[in-house]
Parts: sequence; C-alpha cells; structure tokens
Amino acid sequence: MGFGRSECETCRRDFPALGRKLSGYPLAYLDGPAGTQVPQQVIEAVAGYYRTCNANTHGAFETSRETEEVIHGAREAVAAFLGAPSWREVSFGANMTTLNFSLSQALVREMRPGDEILITELDHEANRGPWLGLRERGIAVREVGLQHDGTLDYADMRRKITDRTRLVAIGYASNALGTVNDVPTARKLAREVGAWLLVDAVHYAPHFSQDVTALDADFLLCSAYKFYGPHVGILYTRPGLLAMLRTDKLRTQEDEAPFRIETGTLNHAAIAGVKAAIEYIASWGQGETLRARLVSAMEGIAFHEHEIARFYWENVRKLPGVEAWGQDFTSPRRAPTVSITIAGVRPSEAARALGGKGILVWDGDFYAARAIEVLGLAEGGGVLRTGISMYNTREEIERLLEGVAALAQR
Ligand SMILES: Cc1ncc(COP(=O)(O)O)c(C=O)c1O
Repeated sequence: MGFGRSECETCRRDFPALGRKLSGYPLAYLDGPAGTQVPQQVIEAVAGYYRTCNANTHGAFETSRETEEVIHGAREAVAAFLGAPSWREVSFGANMTTLNFSLSQALVREMRPGDEILITELDHEANRGPWLGLRERGIAVREVGLQHDGTLDYADMRRKITDRTRLVAIGYASNALGTVNDVPTARKLAREVGAWLLVDAVHYAPHFSQDVTALDADFLLCSAYKFYGPHVGILYTRPGLLAMLRTDKLRTQEDEAPFRIETGTLNHAAIAGVKAAIEYIASWGQGETLRARLVSAMEGIAFHEHEIARFYWENVRKLPGVEAWGQDFTSPRRAPTVSITIAGVRPSEAARALGGKGILVWDGDFYAARAIEVLGLAEGGGVLRTGISMYNTREEIERLLEGVAALAQR
C-alpha cells in the first residue's frame, strides 16, 4: 500500500479541523510549514493524559510514575522516527528555537575566541540567531551563500570551512523554498576539520523519512507541531555527546542525557501527543517494527505530497506575472513547499484575498529572512508560500490556482 489519493481522502476524516468552513468555503490548510493540523488520535492522547495521569515526574505515586512512562514512551517513539539508537539521544523542549539557544550556550563553553561557526544564508533564523549571537563572545560566524536558484553554494561552503571551524549548522530543507540541502557534503567537510554538524530538520521531518545514524549528525532538531503533533521541540544528540557538554542546568536537575538540557517541567500532555503523532504516521506504513512502518509511511506520504506540489508548481508558473522560486520538481529530493510572487500584488494582499476564500497560505519570509533578502524579495513583502501536507488534495490546489489566476489578472 502506498499513500495515494484514496489514503489521503481516508486520512482527512481523522483531522477534525478539516471539517471547518469559512463563509461557506471549506478551509484548505496549505499552511503546514508553519504547523500542521492534528488528527483525533493526537487530540485524544493529550486529553487522555489530562484525564488520567496529570502529575509531575519523580513522585512516589502512581500518576507520577505513569507520567514518566508517557515521556519515556514518547522518547522511544521519536528515536524510531529519527533512526536514533535509543531514547537516551532524545531531549524535549519548548520548541526548536529554545533548544537551539540552549545548545549554543553549551557549545560556546567548548570554544575559544577566534573559533568559527559556519551557518547558511538559506536557514531559518532559529538556526542562525543562536550562532550569530556568539559573535559577542569572540566567535567568528561565517555564512554559506545562497544562489538565485534556491540552492546553497557548496564551493563557498568549502572555502569557508577552515581549521578553526568548530560547528557547521545547516538546515535539512528550507521552509521558504523547499530546497533539500546536501547535508552529506556538509558532514564530510565538517568531519575533515573535526567540526560538529548540527542539522535543523524542522522542515524536513514532516516530508521525508530520516536516519540520523546514517546521516552521522552530532545534533539534529525538529518540532512535532510540523508533523501532526503538538508544540514540542525535539533535540537528537549523538550518543555520549550531550553528557560531555556543560549545559545551563540546575544542580537539582538530572546530569545524564537526555535530561541534561531539559530545564524545568516539560509539557507532559503535549509530549503524550508527540507519541500519538508518530504512531499515527506509522499507521500509514507497513512492517514489523515501528521504525519500519514509519519509514514506509513517510515514503508514501512523500510521494503523495510531491505529486500535489509538482502539480501546483507546473501550473502556477503558467499564469501571467507569476514567478515560482526555488528548484523544480524533477528531483524527488524537493520538499513540497512552493513560494511564488505575483507581479503587482503584494504577498500579504494575495494571502488575505485567498484567506477570504478559505485558502490558508502564508506570506512574508517565515523567519527565513536572510534568504528572502538575498533573493531581493524583502522590499516586495517576501513571497506567497504554499505547503503541502499528507491531507492536502489536488482539488484544494485547483481552488488555489483559480484564486492566484484571479489575482494575477487584476
Ligand atoms: C526550518 C525551520 N527551522 C526552525 C523553525 C523554528 O521552529 P520552532 O517554532 O519549533 O522554534 C522553523 C519554524 O517555522 C522552521 O520552519
């Protein structure tokens, strides 16, 4: 079983929000890169936690023990989702940005003034700001250039990695343009100089199956609200590495990985929902283990999303005055996220007009502010972004195309 049109129709029944209408229009949620809708199974898991075992951890009583089991189970599910060796490599936090800031504070303690960090112009600010902030601690932060076609300049990356580079921080997929970056090349270059590799997989995780072990990343971050779960940030750290880092932590906090970077009380109910989201994805795949079902489900979902995104890409470009940014869809290694500009129409105006017809798309830079500046699109208000998730259909894209065509003709 793949994940095709009929599976998509079936899955739509699991997402209560898809039933909502606005002024008679069914809502078309094409805003997935900013957060997907959640299936009933996730809603139930969150509500179920509050109904049955809402407690803090480390208590000598049943609901506290159950809470610890919920969190442990979620770590195991995330480990399967990422291809991590075990739950010990999976830390939780408020969101990816907060975890990355915490990590930056720990990593800078292992650096000396004059050491270098390499970031990219394509990345979301969440994978730039925490590193740029270390300039005030004497760390040199360099940036890999973004090319007009939406890809990174790997010759520039080669030039900018030096013997002083301690960290290469790169996105796996761009939330603005859908580009999938060549992380294996970044890893190879980072390894040659003994630098850590950190991967922002927030936009990649909802669209492709992942294998952190094969990727050989030191750190990988993602966010469950982008893959049908609640608002929880996730940090994978290579086995043994987190325990060596001097994280900001209380003396009362556990010392070992994965707890070492988890300050304060976690969002237990949301974490219950993370496990449910991963199990929900797995329910669309086949195999003996959770990992096998996840890999198979993500392959099917990726294929479905790619087809729908390609349909949009190919047709929207034919409209007069429309420019589609980023790479084409000849490669399956392209995230199903398409950004366009319409001559004479500001993206915010287009998003508002489409929103009035129940078509939910984003405008602006989506915090990929540097990429939008480099492409010369900032002054015009950025781009109009359409994201495809597992529940999106060709009919929704046809509605979107009609709406964009009406705007383009004005
Ligand atoms: C590629 C990418 N990285 C990082 C983030 C930040 O994630 P969070 O909202 O969990 O901090 C986002 C959010 O949109 C994103 O798209």
